[in-house]
Amino acid sequence: MKFAQRLSNLQASIFSQLAELKMDVERSGHSLINLSIGSPDLAPSAEVRKVISEHSLHDHAYSYTLTRGSSEFREACAKWYKIRFDVDLDPDTEVLPVMGSQDGLSHIFWAFIDHGDAALIPDPGYPIYSDGLALVQGRKIPLPLKEDNCFLPDFSSINPEDAAQAKLMILNYPNNPTAAVASKSFFEETVEFAAKHGIVVCHDAAYTELAYDGYVPASFLQAEGAREVGVEFHSLSKTFNLAGIRLGFVVGNANVIKALETIKSNIDYGTFSPILKAGAAALLGSRNTILGNQETYKKRRDIWVDGCAAAGWHMLRPKGSMFVWAPVPTGQDSVSFVFELAREAGVLVVPGIAFGEYGEGYVRVGLVQNEEALEEAVYRVRNFLCQKRTIK
Ligand SMILES: Cc1ncc(COP(=O)(O)O)c(C=O)c1O
Repeated sequence: MKFAQRLSNLQASIFSQLAELKMDVERSGHSLINLSIGSPDLAPSAEVRKVISEHSLHDHAYSYTLTRGSSEFREACAKWYKIRFDVDLDPDTEVLPVMGSQDGLSHIFWAFIDHGDAALIPDPGYPIYSDGLALVQGRKIPLPLKEDNCFLPDFSSINPEDAAQAKLMILNYPNNPTAAVASKSFFEETVEFAAKHGIVVCHDAAYTELAYDGYVPASFLQAEGAREVGVEFHSLSKTFNLAGIRLGFVVGNANVIKALETIKSNIDYGTFSPILKAGAAALLGSRNTILGNQETYKKRRDIWVDGCAAAGWHMLRPKGSMFVWAPVPTGQDSVSFVFELAREAGVLVVPGIAFGEYGEGYVRVGLVQNEEALEEAVYRVRNFLCQKRTIK
């Protein structure tokens, strides 16, 4: 078989190594606390589950739906935006459902990037940005996210030639993997930069509802002029614990939305209608799931950050997302540290290099286990670090 070049351009290697490591540790009979995944372990509300089950019993629920979904769902997205961000949207032209934001974030490149075209991609960044670009054989211009700039890109340091060539830019706040957050004024700066260079901005807002200590994340569309230069992707996966139903939506610039719809309408026939109904119910229902998630993840965050600090491992206490981004505490490279921690302590996290070269020196910890498991993970980390110090 002669496979397409694009297959080998995908950067699956570290994640498949991690999967092997996990199997290895488990096969050897040791228990492993898996903090490497970004999948919520909490349940959606009973109300939302009821909507899916009731609607899936209707005969007419099984026909094709359109890529643009139901007006009921698009209107629910627009209403939620108005309530949550005070942003007005036209549900007919400025909202499009996607099958999880991953669907939208991977297919958006098809609408803008031809072979060799350039896009600005955060580094470290959620892998689909680089992989989606690789699938259309685009050229990645890394946007370094460094701790000394609060893990925000520094637009003034982008090479003017790269800025002139880039057609698209991806951003993501609250951020995966760094857990950094961005203010409205950062988004205003983004709009200015994008407008100056004719770059389309795609803001991945998967974690705007996971924030702590009273912090309320901003929407990119709150920045003046944002709608002229870009769009924002939302996911119901983390916001309403609905990862498995595969539902998200994209809002903002009508031309970008139309282009994505054209691409997607050649690939899918829309989302199962009970899922759209459930999505609308989640968006228009109570905020209890969101508030419950915030409380749960905040407790988990504090167990991890305080517990590690007590062991001499210090890291930033994030204001948002479901992750902690921690500097490697042992002076090793991130992959060696992760392998040793998994084999010797039975705690699995992701090496920062898995998210790009600027991720080296860090690990990503997913707060995806309950408090008891996290307490145990912290205990194991403490012993592991003590032993390492003693051996040194
Ligand atoms: C930053 C970020 N964007 C997008 C996604 C994809 O989410 P969805 O389930 O909506 O496809 C994830 C999932 O982990 C994520 O972390």
